[in-house]
Amino acid sequence: MKKLQVTDAESVLFTRISRKINFFARMNMGLLEEILKRITYYQFDKGEKVCRQGEPGDSFYVVAEGRLGVRVKTGLIFSRKVAELIPGDCFGEMALLTRAPRTATVACEEESKLFILTADHFDEAVKQNPAFAEEIKKLADARKSALGK
Ligand code: CMP
Repeated sequence: MKKLQVTDAESVLFTRISRKINFFARMNMGLLEEILKRITYYQFDKGEKVCRQGEPGDSFYVVAEGRLGVRVKTGLIFSRKVAELIPGDCFGEMALLTRAPRTATVACEEESKLFILTADHFDEAVKQNPAFAEEIKKLADARKSALGK
């Protein structure tokens, strides 16, 4: 994983992407600007794992470029792919909302670029914006059901 700079171009990209995401779309511009100040931007190689099932969560991710697979363990060695994530999708919210371990492993199926918000800033966004909190909880609940939990 390689840290990239957040220049004006990336800020515009994040704003554009976040407007397409349900819960960000309902976020007021002031909070979005606060998030923008705190967001980091990383590039991941094909095959690289961004988060691992069972580990504690410390970040929330928004896909800017690339494609990622969400896999859940079915045994000691095997896993089942439950979803694919593309630009405009986000992930990593479940562990942050529940403080439980990561529910799945998310790995890059091609080189990918992600915006990353650390847990403390994610918590702040949830606390300060009820619309964001409501939408992100809805998303986490839907994914939880899809996992059969
Ligand atoms: P978290 O449990 O923090 O870490 C793994 C992430 O994978 C999880 O949050 C969700 O964001 C994502 N995830 C889990 N299950 C699904 C699913 N069924 N569809 C899409 N994304 C999922």
